[in-house]
Formats: sequence, C-alpha cells, structure tokens
Amino acid sequence: MELSDECFQEIVEGDTKLLVPKKSITEKVPPKKPAFFNPKAKLNRDFSIVVYATFLKKFQGPKIFLEGLSGIGARGLRVAKELEIDNLVINDLNPSALKMAKYSSNLNDIKNIEFSELEVCRFLSKYSKKGKRGSIVDIDPFGSPAAFFDCGVRATMHGGILSTAATDLQVLNGLFQNACKRKYGGIPVRTEYGNEIAIRLVLGCLRMVAARLGVEIIPMFVESEMHYYRTYVKVLNRPDQQENIGYILHCKNCGNRKTSINQELDCELCESKISIAGPLWIGKIFDKEFVKNMLNEIPNYKVDKMCEKTTLKCLEESEMPVTYFTLDEIASKMKSSPPKLENMISNLQKNNFKSSVTSFSPTGFRTNAKINEIVEIVKANQ
Ligand SMILES: C[S@@+](CC[C@H](N)C(=O)[O-])C[C@H]1O[C@@H](n2cnc3c(N)ncnc32)[C@H](O)[C@@H]1O
Ligand SMILES: [Zn+2]
Repeated sequence: MELSDECFQEIVEGDTKLLVPKKSITEKVPPKKPAFFNPKAKLNRDFSIVVYATFLKKFQGPKIFLEGLSGIGARGLRVAKELEIDNLVINDLNPSALKMAKYSSNLNDIKNIEFSELEVCRFLSKYSKKGKRGSIVDIDPFGSPAAFFDCGVRATMHGGILSTAATDLQVLNGLFQNACKRKYGGIPVRTEYGNEIAIRLVLGCLRMVAARLGVEIIPMFVESEMHYYRTYVKVLNRPDQQENIGYILHCKNCGNRKTSINQELDCELCESKISIAGPLWIGKIFDKEFVKNMLNEIPNYKVDKMCEKTTLKCLEESEMPVTYFTLDEIASKMKSSPPKLENMISNLQKNNFKSSVTSFSPTGFRTNAKINEIVEIVKANQ
C-alpha cells in the first residue's frame, strides 16, 4: 500500500500528528479499509489520556503500554507522544493500519515503540509472563471485547490498568438477550438506565474471568457514550474476596429497583413480577480518589471540554447507589411535565435523601430514595 496524498491526510489529535485515511474523515461511517480510524472517538481517546496520565503519575513500576487492537495507532501514538512512558507496543492484524501507524510515529519522532501484526490473543499471550506484562493494556475491538478478557487480564501486571471498549450496544442494551447471555454471562433488562446495566454486565463478565484466574479487578473509571461503553479497571494479582456480583431487580410496573446478591420474584412495593438483570457487577464503578486525581490532570492536556464536565459528574456520583432515575420517567409516572434536575436533587437532599447527577444521562439523577418516595417529594413541591 502506497501512502499517497489523494487517499491519506495528516491531522492533529490532542498533541499528536496522525496519518488517517481521507475517507474516515469524509464518510459518515468510517471504512475498515484500507484501515479503520474513527474521528468521532476522539473524546474517548481524550478520556484515555486523562485516565492513563492519572494512573501513571502514581505508578512505580515500568511504564509499558500494550495496545491489542490499535487500528492506525491513534490511541497508542497519543499515549507515547503526550504521556511519559518507557515503552509501547501496538498490534493490529491489518498491515495497512500498521504501516500508517509507523508513518505517524516518525511524524511525531517517537522512538520507544514496537509494532506487531498478530491476532490480538496471540499478541497478548506473548506478554503474559511475569516481567513481560503491560502496566496499561487496551482492548478496543469492533463489537464485544469479552473474547479478549482472558488474554487481556493475563497480560496486565499487578497494579496495572486494563481498559476495554464495547460497541455491541444492541446486545448489551437488551435487544438480543440470548446473545448477551452467551457473550457476557448475564442478561440485560430494557430500562431507562440501560447504559449502566450494560457497563455492569461488561464489568461482571470481566470480574468472572479475572476471579477464575485468581485476580481481582477494581473499577477506576467508566464512560458511557452514544456509540460505546469503556471501562478502566485496576488489576491486582490476588484472589477477589468481595461480593461484587449480583443482580439488579427492576419492576416494570412501578419503577422500583434495587440490587441483590440473590434473585427475587416479586416487587416489594407493588408485588408485580420483577425483571432480573444479571449476574452483573453491583460494586462501585468509580474510584472517588482516582476521579478526583483525574480532575487535577485534565488541565495538563489538550482534551475536549466535555472531559471536565463529565468527570465532575462522575465525582459526584462516585459513592451513590447503583442505578439512576430520569426526569422523564418520573414525569410519565406522574402524568405531568418533568421537574427541573437541580430542583429534583435539592428537594431529595432537603428530605434527607442522598442525591446527585449522573454522567450516564443529562436528565438522570441518583438517589437512595425509592420511587414512591420520589413521587411523594415531587407532589409536595408541585
Ligand atoms: C475499533 S478498531 C481500533 C481503533 C483504535 N483502537 C483507535 O482508538 O483508533 C479495531 C481494530 O482491530 C483490528 N482487529 C480486528 N480483529 C482483530 C484481531 N483478532 N486481532 C488483531 N487485530 C484485530 C482491526 O484491524 C481494527 O483496526
Ligand atoms: Zn413494583
């Protein structure tokens, strides 16, 4: 493949020059050939820069980044150019993508980089021995990352970060329940907070794989956007003693929901049959200290303004209950126009309930109040 001017273009993302296929910029859906690059995924790469910078600041071991499915190398090259790392290996099955990545690495004068053209699990398996593992490992496939969890966990060193992306939204959001059970070992339920269930299904599957390998995972940060779900977990080489796997029990009749280690049949508020999502991750999805540190790092990097806005919301919701409510859900229940988000949250707090915004939805709020208590509070303030 010749890297001719009419087919390729140099762009700058963050502080990094990238050679990309022209069509990936001009066409609505970026083509997979000659190589895949999605300009719309800039925000998620920006978040990666912030998360990895936060992690690297405190990490004492060797700083090695392993990228299993690099495409044209946008994420990995940004890591090498914008962060302080010792070594970087980027891997993709597509030789054209790697050729472009090599060209871009020269554009940025990156020296501490190696390229690899292997199937992702073969690549990660090469780095699965003590002393060879990555301190940051990224898995960013088309569709589900679940098939790569085993090799991803094995290739991440003790105390390192494993990041994954899922784009099989229809599966995780409950359109194809059987496919979700097959791929992630859990079942979704279609609810207003489906994106949170999806992230928890991904984390639940990752936890089950890690636990099987005698490894613990601790979620540091998660990101839910229109087209993808990303998770960042710390990997610790010790057996997981926590009860972080369970179910979300959701009543489609009255909107009541809760988490439980066990399945239950009936809603405790209206006695209707309850819908059960899971097994999935019911523990924390944000590490409060880590998210605070992310906010300190953001000003040091050329990242989208949304990073700060979203991270502030993540900080607020980091210790709040599992699942959120939406204003529309409350309004349709009450057959009235939706209350304002600030009012909803402050009225809940005035009534001694916890409440916060959520990064998962612009009209969502978290609270420990139950649906009947929320409705009472809205009525009292109408
Ligand atoms: C979603 S793209 C990666 C995008 C990239 N991480 C970024 O941030 O721009 C997925 C990539 O995985 C590669 N790929 C697909 N299956 C693979 C496999 N089994 N092993 C290695 N690479 C694979 C594709 O060639 C494609 O470049
Ligand atoms: Zn109910």
